[in-house]
Amino acid sequence: MQSRSGHVGIEERAFRHTQDPYINPPVPFTGRIVGGLQVGHMVTVTGRVLSTDENRFEVYFHTGMSDTNNIAFHFNPRFEGSGYVVCNTKQLGDWGPEERKMLMPFQRGSLFEICFQVDRSAFKVMVNASTFLFYVHRVPLYEVNAISIKGCVEVSHIDFQKYKSLPC
Ligand code: GAL
Repeated sequence: MQSRSGHVGIEERAFRHTQDPYINPPVPFTGRIVGGLQVGHMVTVTGRVLSTDENRFEVYFHTGMSDTNNIAFHFNPRFEGSGYVVCNTKQLGDWGPEERKMLMPFQRGSLFEICFQVDRSAFKVMVNASTFLFYVHRVPLYEVNAISIKGCVEVSHIDFQKYKSLPC
């Protein structure tokens, strides 16, 4: 994209869509990540936490559209007590050790934006533009080709971008 002065702006050069967004996907939702997840990708989920009886939601990156036995990254906010977020990986049907962040950055009824930045060593998760946590990769990224969302949320967009500067 070119600015009025004819120069490619830094913003435009740094962020490129890698596939079309999913718009208003019904939850529970599973969608393909075209070409698989790669270092430099950023997946942004925008939505609202619903005030229902359910007290959890989850966003997870996994292998195969219908395979729930191999989850590279499960990001699972739980509205229990004062609230916390569980992160984990499932391999061949078995969960690994949980990483819990005892903070709740989401509020029922409120809009949110979660950015999953895929760095070489970890997923960097930003909630509402603030860094929330890092989750070090436990499985190779080339195995990840789907995203799923379940639980007490409605989702307006799932966007796929590259956040690293790329040659034009
Ligand atoms: C389990 C829960 C799963 C998943 C997992 C993460 O207790 O049933 O949905 O959240 O913890 O470790």
